Amino acid sequence: MAERKPVHITPEMLEQQKEFALEIRSLPQKPETYFVVTYGCQMNAHDSEILAGMLRQCGMTEATDREHADFVIFNTCCVRDNAERRALGNVTWLKEVRKQRPNLIIAVCGCMIQQPGMAEKILKQYKFIDLAFGTCNLYRLPELLLRTLNSAAPVVQVEDEDTIAENLPVKRLRNDAAYITIMYGCDNFCSYCIVPYVRGRERSRAMEDILAEARQLKESGVKEIMLLGQNVNSYGKGLDGNVTFAELLRKLDDIGIERIRFMTSHPKDLSDELIQVMGESRHILPQFHLPVQSGNDEILRVMNRRYTSAQYLDKVRKLREAVPGIGLTTDIIVGFPGETEEQFLDTLSLVEQVGYDSAFTFIYSPRKGTRAAEMDAQVPESVATDRIQRLIAAQEAGQRKAMERFLGMEEEVLVEGLSRRSEQEVSGKGRHGISVTFPGNYDDIGQIVRVRITAMKNNTLQAERLSMILND
Ligand code: 5AD
Ligand code: SF4
Repeated sequence: MAERKPVHITPEMLEQQKEFALEIRSLPQKPETYFVVTYGCQMNAHDSEILAGMLRQCGMTEATDREHADFVIFNTCCVRDNAERRALGNVTWLKEVRKQRPNLIIAVCGCMIQQPGMAEKILKQYKFIDLAFGTCNLYRLPELLLRTLNSAAPVVQVEDEDTIAENLPVKRLRNDAAYITIMYGCDNFCSYCIVPYVRGRERSRAMEDILAEARQLKESGVKEIMLLGQNVNSYGKGLDGNVTFAELLRKLDDIGIERIRFMTSHPKDLSDELIQVMGESRHILPQFHLPVQSGNDEILRVMNRRYTSAQYLDKVRKLREAVPGIGLTTDIIVGFPGETEEQFLDTLSLVEQVGYDSAFTFIYSPRKGTRAAEMDAQVPESVATDRIQRLIAAQEAGQRKAMERFLGMEEEVLVEGLSRRSEQEVSGKGRHGISVTFPGNYDDIGQIVRVRITAMKNNTLQAERLSMILND
């Protein structure tokens, strides 16, 4: 693949967008309210925060739901077929709403639109969509919305550029916890994965920009940051100097934000230096999301993962040595082309060996344009469904056993909200990444509370309160 240079969005380009936003504010027919519907990963969730930030810059406020908004934007995912189908189903449903409210504007953006030829195809099939744009055009929303308001025909904007934009407006979902993107795109080309085609080449933000954002978040009272990237372990590639993810983590740790998390990691790039930093740091949480995808070496090879199950297990061992009790989670695909029963059993066996705290399990979904989609021996759906059920059962059994280590232990929980089961209880994530529920009320939301784990219930932990920590 030819070398591509990242395109930095300049302050002047952002200033121009601000002017478009001001122009929208002054339009008599401007939409007053917006609603952003998000599919997919945390990257998309953060992109939606930026979309919301830009729409507020255009003078709009958030609607209570999509039925009552003047402008609805679907931020889509295409990593699996069901994500695409769900998005398109919901877009179609909104067409009915527009029959009652003809001024409703419908936009679709994100990964699904960034696939070659997809925007045109969708607009042909879904004629009621007013605006479609790809992942690298995100920062141009004010301009695209203005064009949409002034045009009878749908507006489409999809470029194939690797953009990096700093200082975009953002309306964060939470006040106590915040996402920080540290790198964009992916160069790994796992053979099943569409991400490198829709998120572009891997590129890292400058370390100073990331540190400045973290400092500013700390000042605003944020207690937890989640660093985002498709492969955070290779952060720094292409930047001047020998910048590594481990080094970035050390510097972020020094800023003193109470909790630092990150995702996603690629096992092949998980360095000893990073494991060491995990062990030494004060604020990096003892949790690690390490997608394994398969426990069979031949499948891993054809997936282009570039590690063996033994190498993976060795990294797990090192992580557990450096950070005893670390919370481990993973992603697993079953039914990859050619996967035999024996190869699947290797995955089951790996899951049993590791004992994950949780696992995201997926049936392989062919993605047009990827290498795996062209492979022979696609696994029948019934076989894949049977495998995923057995995998989930094995994972749940392992999870129950793994979670026993928390019984009687003290944990610190950042409270996210009232528990779904009872108004006298609150829940949030412990330092190990597992949901914990305990007695509490509305005032606890956004606070870090010290608790003792008393019981396990399904996939979550129950606890009793010990005290509140206001400051580290
Ligand atoms: N089919 C099924 N699962 C996939 N993933 C990525 N691409 C596919 C695909 N084509 C899963 C991987 C990845 C997670 C985000 O989604 O497990 O880690
Ligand atoms: Fe997809 Fe592999 Fe990149 Fe993850 S590392 S985004 S699975 S290509």
